[in-house]
Amino acid sequence: MYNVSMLKFIDIKDKYGHLTPIESKIDIPFEIKRIYCITRVDQGITRGFHSHRKLHQVLICINGSVKIRTKNPIEEEVIELNDPSVGLYLGNYVWREMFDFSEGSVLLVIASEYYDENDYIRNYDFYLEEAKKRF
Ligand code: TYD
Repeated sequence: MYNVSMLKFIDIKDKYGHLTPIESKIDIPFEIKRIYCITRVDQGITRGFHSHRKLHQVLICINGSVKIRTKNPIEEEVIELNDPSVGLYLGNYVWREMFDFSEGSVLLVIASEYYDENDYIRNYDFYLEEAKKRF
């Protein structure tokens, strides 16, 4: 899907467990300015419901599983994340909804910009209006 791709990171496995290193501009296709994590999401909750005008992100489910629905004016896809060595890259103007968080799941989000509420499009009709010029 346009502006959406899967990233595979190194999974270093030894008798002590697994380790996944993630480096800015090497494993992540942008300079990392911010990270945040989403935790303790109750069953049945869907969150997200927005797009960004400029921000790029990589979503990594570092514990448990979560589903991500991505949309643009012409495409829609659902991807399950359940592996700390897999990232979901979301470019700008991708609508996202996150749901089916498993108990104890941890979604790590790596972002290309500092937090800026003005970069969000939170209304789906406004999103379609702005995004359809780009697709
Ligand atoms: P939001 O991005 O809407 O979360 P989600 O898309 O996962 O549902 O953010 C939820 C709240 O947290 C909102 O009030 C904005 C705030 N927030 C920050 O203050 N800083 C941040 O870096 C992020 C991502 C959100």
